[in-house]
Amino acid sequence: MQTVSTIPTGFWQKPCREVQYSLTPGEVHVWLASLKMPAAQVAILRACLSFEEVAKASRFRSRADQTSAMVSRGILRHLLGNYLRMAPEDIPFACNAYGKPGLASPTGAGLNFNLSHSHHWVVVGFAWGRRIGVDVERIRPESANDELVGHYLAPAEACHLRSLPLADRINAFFQCWTRKEAFLKARGDGLMGRLDSFEVAFGRDSLPAILRVAENETPAEDWSVVNLPLGDSYAGAVVVDGPCHRLKCFQWSLPASSEVLEALPAQMPNPSLAC
Ligand SMILES: CC(C)(COP(=O)(O)OP(=O)(O)OC[C@H]1O[C@@H](n2cnc3c(N)ncnc32)[C@H](O)[C@@H]1OP(=O)(O)O)[C@@H](O)C(=O)NCCC(=O)NCCS
Repeated sequence: MQTVSTIPTGFWQKPCREVQYSLTPGEVHVWLASLKMPAAQVAILRACLSFEEVAKASRFRSRADQTSAMVSRGILRHLLGNYLRMAPEDIPFACNAYGKPGLASPTGAGLNFNLSHSHHWVVVGFAWGRRIGVDVERIRPESANDELVGHYLAPAEACHLRSLPLADRINAFFQCWTRKEAFLKARGDGLMGRLDSFEVAFGRDSLPAILRVAENETPAEDWSVVNLPLGDSYAGAVVVDGPCHRLKCFQWSLPASSEVLEALPAQMPNPSLAC
């Protein structure tokens, strides 16, 4: 098995295995999971995928990428299965016109999610009744170059980046990038959203925020931006439409027996995740 590039997981709490996840309206849940796992667990996750999902994953050239794609989709199905009290294989997905996955109504009405993977990790965010976007990127110093800064950042953002001390610029660039991408992913229109049509706050001395949006968009101050605690090698952000009263960060792992989730009755009381 390959070495897993590190994310310090101390901040990410491990929920009790048996508990059912539930989300209150002002809460945001974010789950971190490693895509590297033993073959037996990969097989369990693969077993809950649809034929189309397996076929899509199989289009990746390398075996490692195929496995990662299946694992990340399997993790998403297991997480959704728990929130919705459904078997992972029964989750009804629907995509918007730009490919953003969501849940087909009426089953998933209200539960919104978004996923991002980078290298060996996947992060999945959940919010109730609000648009949510998540982005995680491995910090690659060579990417913070002038050409990409000019391409991805709005002129005011590029100007702010260049005003920062040299030692801070790489992290600041990735902070800016992940906040912008999480915002685009929350809106769900992907590359259709022009990167210079909005601005985000970033840098050691700035609180995470959306500073400016295009006309006819939800006002900048109505969005919440949250930094993810991913250590020095990764940057990550979550953006939700509306306030984020409470952020909970969890580590995901497959229950010792995958039957644990599948054996749960369809309708159960809704205990809090805190345990
Ligand atoms: C589709 C897009 C959002 C994916 O971003 P990415 O960084 O390549 O990949 P991530 O791992 O963060 O996200 C991929 C996941 O986002 C979700 N996704 C797909 N299309 C989406 C969309 N239009 N909106 C939100 N989420 C989307 C899917 O769950 C996907 O997972 P999958 O590939 O396993 O199905 C991206 O191609 C895009 O349009 N990015 C925004 C524009 C940009 O260039 N930003 C640069 C930095 S500012």
